[in-house]
Amino acid sequence: MYRLLFILALDLYTVHSCEVCEPCECNVIKFHRRFLCTANCSDRGLSSIPGTLPSVIEVIDLSYNDLHNEDLERLKLFTEYLADLNLSYNNITYLPPRSLSTASQLNVLNLDGNVLEKVDSTSFGHLKQLHKLIGIHAKTFEENTFENLEGLNDMSIVFGSKEASENIFSHLKLKSLHMNFKTATRIPEKLLNFGIDTLVDIYLNAPNVESLHENTFSGLTILKSVTIQTEKMQTLPTNLFHSTVNDDRKMPVNLVTVIIDGVKSLPRNLFDKQQSLKHLTLNNIEDLILPKSESQVDTLDLSGSTLYRISADWFIGFKNLRFLNLSRTKLIEVNNDTLMSLSSLTVLDLSYNNITNLPDALFKSSQNTIVAFNVSHNQLRNISSRTFEGVKSLEKVDMGNNKLNFIDENAFRDQFMLTDLFLNDNELVYLSSDTLFDQTSLLDLNIARNKIKHLPERLFRNARSLRRLDISGNKIQTLPHDFFETIRFLEFVSLDDNPVHCDCPLMLIRDSMPRLNLIGKCEAPPKLQGTLLKNLKLNENCLITTSPTVLLTSFSFYDASLVLSSTLDLKTFPSTISSTPYTYVTEIVEIASTSANHLYPSIVQIFNRDTPEEAIGNDFYDTFLGTSAFYIAIGCVVAVFLGALVGVAVVMARRKLRSRAYEVSETTEIPNDDIAMALRHVHEER
Ligand SMILES: *[C@@H]1O[C@H](CO)[C@@H](O)[C@H](O)[C@H]1NC(C)=O
Ligand SMILES: *[C@@H]1O[C@H](CO)[C@@H](O)[C@H](O)[C@H]1NC(C)=O
Ligand SMILES: *[C@@H]1O[C@H](CO)[C@@H](O)[C@H](O)[C@H]1NC(C)=O
Ligand SMILES: *[C@@H]1O[C@H](CO)[C@@H](O)[C@H](O)[C@H]1NC(C)=O
Ligand SMILES: *[C@@H]1O[C@H](CO)[C@@H](O)[C@H](O)[C@H]1NC(C)=O
Ligand SMILES: *[C@@H]1O[C@H](CO)[C@@H](O)[C@H](O)[C@H]1NC(C)=O
Ligand SMILES: *[C@@H]1O[C@H](CO)[C@@H](O)[C@H](O)[C@H]1NC(C)=O
Ligand SMILES: *[C@@H]1O[C@H](CO)[C@@H](O)[C@H](O)[C@H]1NC(C)=O
Repeated sequence: MYRLLFILALDLYTVHSCEVCEPCECNVIKFHRRFLCTANCSDRGLSSIPGTLPSVIEVIDLSYNDLHNEDLERLKLFTEYLADLNLSYNNITYLPPRSLSTASQLNVLNLDGNVLEKVDSTSFGHLKQLHKLIGIHAKTFEENTFENLEGLNDMSIVFGSKEASENIFSHLKLKSLHMNFKTATRIPEKLLNFGIDTLVDIYLNAPNVESLHENTFSGLTILKSVTIQTEKMQTLPTNLFHSTVNDDRKMPVNLVTVIIDGVKSLPRNLFDKQQSLKHLTLNNIEDLILPKSESQVDTLDLSGSTLYRISADWFIGFKNLRFLNLSRTKLIEVNNDTLMSLSSLTVLDLSYNNITNLPDALFKSSQNTIVAFNVSHNQLRNISSRTFEGVKSLEKVDMGNNKLNFIDENAFRDQFMLTDLFLNDNELVYLSSDTLFDQTSLLDLNIARNKIKHLPERLFRNARSLRRLDISGNKIQTLPHDFFETIRFLEFVSLDDNPVHCDCPLMLIRDSMPRLNLIGKCEAPPKLQGTLLKNLKLNENCLITTSPTVLLTSFSFYDASLVLSSTLDLKTFPSTISSTPYTYVTEIVEIASTSANHLYPSIVQIFNRDTPEEAIGNDFYDTFLGTSAFYIAIGCVVAVFLGALVGVAVVMARRKLRSRAYEVSETTEIPNDDIAMALRHVHEER
């Protein structure tokens, strides 16, 4: 009870006193039902620890400043509650004795990016609670430096010396140890012996070490994860991870993750007895041979290693493999049997190789599991209709940066799940209008930097989900006219670096989809050259008719706006008069100029409703581009009705006149009034 009250009081005090701490930023955070005071002083150009920090502080981030050794003395003022201290990337070369030793609650200490001259046991004293020590880097580590850090679980250390002492870690109970031997040429055989019952994760970066002793990991029976990064090792001992029949060493045979980077070649039996291995990464190996025995490996990353060719039995032991990374492996070919044994393959990365051709039915064994395929940065020339034969599950395909000049129109048939298709940086001149026939799920299409002159009409007719389209760097003048009829969810279109002709349809697109992020600029007509597409305004030329008569052939929700708005440019946009399902009027209708004039102000008004406020105010506006067209269509129907009325009135009047004229004299001329003029005009036009 008292304890609770104490904590409550402390919390109140914390919340209260953790307010201002210029130039740092103080915050109270809730952590395990406690309130903690934190100060972020990172990157404030500090050359001393600010005096404004409240004494109740628990987390201090002093990283990226210019603190020196003597500044650490001030830390004693805050050490009572201090739990997390970040001193990374300062100019600390020496930890003054006991400067931290009163921080009895200190849990995490980050010293990354400082190079200490020397550390010994006085540097840390009794930091009993210290759980995690990050980035300690010293030129010299005394034998007993860490002897009092009994609570330490997790350490990353950089050895600046040529030699590392074999006993440096003795007494520690580390679970995770990241070691970086910058200059050392040798790793003591028994360095890791201290961790027999505790070590789970080891990371070893040793660029100058030429060999590892067979006993390096000896006794580490609970080890789960090993990383070895080297530059000068020819090979590893065959028995590094397991014992032979004759020796009875206890070995780490339950490894789950192994990463080996930079060893020239590996012994064939290195992974024998590893029954739990799930993630195997073998990077930058020059002469790679994979184990043939059956394994549980789920992720195999061979990127950077040298392969050239893969024979049929290469992956024979990898029946459970789901992720395969063969990026930068100098591959020149993939055969129809290369992936034959991989019946669970989900992600395949073949990027940055020299592959010129993909075989038919590449994913025959994994046709229901393969989801992502990256073959970018290769030398592919064409994609046949049979490459993805039978595949049902593909979602992401990256074929960018190849030499593709031909894609069969059926190449992506049945790929209903495809969401991302990257064909950028190729040599495509042409796409068939059926290329995306089955891509109803497509979200992101990139065909930037090809040589495409125009996108076929109906290319996007089924790609109704498309969100992003990058067609920059081509030779495209205009978008297909049916483009925005189908794609309602577009968020981004880049037409950058194309000879874009800013015509009425493009203006209408800009106008009817105010939230579309449209990139690029007009090249033509000359009047609009250089205008950013995002600033394109519906041109008055697209709005006002000069002819007294408006000819309305068949028109739709969408087309109506164009017919009415494009100065009877029917010859220029023949395709806009298409037979869409929304056809309203089919006969040719004549409208007298008076009623047409009457009609226009309201159309202009509708088209000008493009200020963001009004656009946002309208629920339909962004999703249904036909909204403004809808009003126009209604307007048109009304206009046609009015026109018809006027017409009927005129005809009646004319009959009346005629009959009256007959009555008076057989040769009487039609009176010279407005209606008669309009009528004659219409006659002449016919
Ligand atoms: C302090 O702020 C920096 C960014 O300015 C951030 O990267 C860092 O994580 C913050 N530190 C803490 C302890 O939250
Ligand atoms: C400093 O280290 C702490 C952990 O001690 C971390 O939370 C914080 O993000 C680090 N700050 C920066 C800028 O990396
Ligand atoms: C660290 O301090 C020394 C001398 O105090 C100075 O020469 C050096 O440039 C400083 N280094 C950095 C990274 O500020
Ligand atoms: C394959 O490895 C490369 C690094 O070599 C990496 O960039 C890429 O993201 C990896 N691919 C996958 C699918 O993880
Ligand atoms: C592809 O092959 C050429 C010549 O054979 C070579 O110069 C280039 O480095 C190779 N590219 C890759 C990614 O291996
Ligand atoms: C691989 O292609 C060859 C011809 O190039 C063919 O004879 C063989 O049957 C194909 N193998 C499979 C598994 O499809
Ligand atoms: C290849 O594509 C995959 C899946 O989209 C991605 O995870 C990977 O990072 C790409 N590889 C490279 C080298 O960019
Ligand atoms: C596609 O490439 C293969 C091999 O490079 C070639 O045999 C075939 O004729 C090409 N097909 C087309 C249509 O260009």
